[in-house]
Amino acid sequence: MPSTPSPHAALAAASALLLTAACAPERARDPFTADGRIIAFSGGDAGASRACFTCHGLAGEGDGRASPRLAGLPAGYLVRQLGDYADGRRADKVMRQIAKVLDHDARMAVAAYYAALPAPPPAHAPAGAADAAAARLYLAGDPSRGLPACASCHGAAGEGRGDANPPLAGQPVDFLAEQLHRWRRSERRNDPQNVMLTISRRLTPSEVERISRYAAGLSPTTAPAGEFQAASR
Ligand code: HEC
Ligand code: HEC
Repeated sequence: MPSTPSPHAALAAASALLLTAACAPERARDPFTADGRIIAFSGGDAGASRACFTCHGLAGEGDGRASPRLAGLPAGYLVRQLGDYADGRRADKVMRQIAKVLDHDARMAVAAYYAALPAPPPAHAPAGAADAAAARLYLAGDPSRGLPACASCHGAAGEGRGDANPPLAGQPVDFLAEQLHRWRRSERRNDPQNVMLTISRRLTPSEVERISRYAAGLSPTTAPAGEFQAASR
């Protein structure tokens, strides 16, 4: 005789489903991002101790220090970074071990999951008003040193442009600064045409810290000060 599920089990299953549906954003309900969600919370083939959420946060918001925000980053960018970690073009001991054991489908699924999450609000107030020099460098560059405006690729509000140029807004300050240092040291070698390597080497160490603070504090919803916005056009 076929067993019928107990009313208790049915109720638990139904409420679990409701809970998932209520918490997950619209696009996370399709089967592909649902696979990604499982990897984000279980680690997939990388194992539970490497579940993404333990470092990148429950909502993909990052840990405010070394682990970046993944929420709302373009899926194509995320997939490529996982490939670059796995083959060492982007050197990082932790992410290399994790990326190596995820196959192509797993990388695609977890990237789609994080790309569909909403961008988190910035953790601190924009440094724009306090650091006019950093704002100018970000929005207008410094042609005398051959430095293009960061805004021309990353957006005036740090929102990113297309699949190739990632958002910087809402990333941890330390993470952004660390990336610029790694390019300077040639530990990160995955940027198209060495664009970030060239730029990072033209910045002084103090500028790296200040521009990272400025960019991290940007928010796609807070427009930068008008005078600099005009300068960046
Ligand atoms: C033990 C902590 C830890 C775990 C677990 C972890 N990460 Fe990371 N992840 C990091 C750190 C730290 C960095 C920054 C490394 C660097 O500076 O390049 C990072 C960077 C990344 C980046 C680069 C993002 C960017 O903006 O450049 C991606 C993509 C990423 N992780 C995806 C994942 C995925 C997917 C998982 C789960 C399968 C995962 N991570 C699990 C710590 C972790
Ligand atoms: C010509 C376009 C261009 C300009 C100008 C530019 N960037 Fe980038 N930036 C990129 C690209 C492309 C990447 C992604 C590289 C890769 O594929 O890994 C990137 C990545 C980054 C990252 C790493 C983000 C992450 O999530 O891993 C940081 C930090 C960064 N840029 C900071 C800056 C700053 C600060 C400036 C201005 C001083 C600047 N960029 C100017 C194109 C640009």
